[in-house]
Amino acid sequence: MIMERKTWLTLVIFTCLIASSCGRELQVKNNHKQAAYNHTLATILVEYASAVYISDLTELFTWTCERCNGLTKGFEVIELVVDIENCLQAFVGVAKDLNAIVIAFRGTQEHSIQNWIEDLFWKQLDLNYPGMPDAMVHHGFYAAYHNTTIRHGILHAVKEAKEFYGELDIMVTGHSMGGAMASFCALDLTVNHEANNVQVMTFGQPRIGNSVFASYYAKLVPNTIRVTNDHDIVPHLPPYYTYFPQKTYHHFPREVWLYNLGMGSLVYTVEKVCDSSGEDPTCSRSVTGNSIADHLSYYGIDLKCQDWRSCKIVMDPQVAEYGKTDLKGNFILSRAPATRVNTRSNEGEGEGEGKASA
Ligand SMILES: *[C@@H]1O[C@H](CO)[C@@H](O)[C@H](O)[C@H]1NC(C)=O
Ligand SMILES: *[C@@H]1O[C@H](CO)[C@@H](O)[C@H](O)[C@H]1NC(C)=O
Repeated sequence: MIMERKTWLTLVIFTCLIASSCGRELQVKNNHKQAAYNHTLATILVEYASAVYISDLTELFTWTCERCNGLTKGFEVIELVVDIENCLQAFVGVAKDLNAIVIAFRGTQEHSIQNWIEDLFWKQLDLNYPGMPDAMVHHGFYAAYHNTTIRHGILHAVKEAKEFYGELDIMVTGHSMGGAMASFCALDLTVNHEANNVQVMTFGQPRIGNSVFASYYAKLVPNTIRVTNDHDIVPHLPPYYTYFPQKTYHHFPREVWLYNLGMGSLVYTVEKVCDSSGEDPTCSRSVTGNSIADHLSYYGIDLKCQDWRSCKIVMDPQVAEYGKTDLKGNFILSRAPATRVNTRSNEGEGEGEGKASA
């Protein structure tokens, strides 16, 4: 009898909790587009996330870099944004084969990735995401997208591309810190710019907000895949504390965890599609995040600069003519959609000095 009453009481309390938490939720538009993991698309988008690390801006702007020659061949860059002040880089362009605008963000390019990762342990949830009650994010991640040259450049190029090509899907990608920026960008496009066809795929991104933020995000940008690789340390950071799920960082869904199975020469990679919680305990959280090597290569593609020199860029003087520079040295290379870029190499003349570096 007593047992039964207890069970009832628990049930009532539990129901109230569920009801009240549902009641507090704000009505947000649900796009009803489920995130379906597409392996082929992942292998394409990871090449964009890799190319954005290239520091030769001529090769990147004209899509002639070594990393631009695989599954992304034929991509048309519309805008390339370089924020020298904060050492950030991103591009926007049109992939006709995907019928989509692709936006890619570079990860951090500091001297020491080790130091950057160590700092991730201490990131605070110190900013209320505007317009979303109780949604907290890390100020630095937020500002990297919202408070730099990057945002303006991206939005401008998306507008240009839409005006020229009509409605296209928008695919946003990035690796590491670039994945964090990609998420904020997708949310910005959805919430502030009425884009309802935004797709996100990030690789090895850190956590960026609390669970309230994660649930807003999941409703607003449901078509999101967050790929994690084996023991990659970064998706484990900033830490998630099981005992305080409401107070800590919390990933948004949907994770796809890549891990190796087998031994010796019989190793193959499993691509596990995880649950819709964002924090599936049977995915990357089931292992220790202790690998930087697993962070720097996804699907066999390098996700890092060719060298870790801080913010080095290289540019052909003729390509520089497509650029606009602000007072702080940040600049944007842009061109009208479907136009050819003149460079030294495609003009076939070899006079003068080689490349200018900044
Ligand atoms: C997966 O993505 C590729 C590349 O965009 C596309 O061609 C293919 O149709 C997609 N597959 C499914 C099942 O949607
Ligand atoms: C944006 O940057 C400016 C100047 O760098 C700074 O004063 C301001 O506090 C920043 N705002 C946010 C929200 O990061």
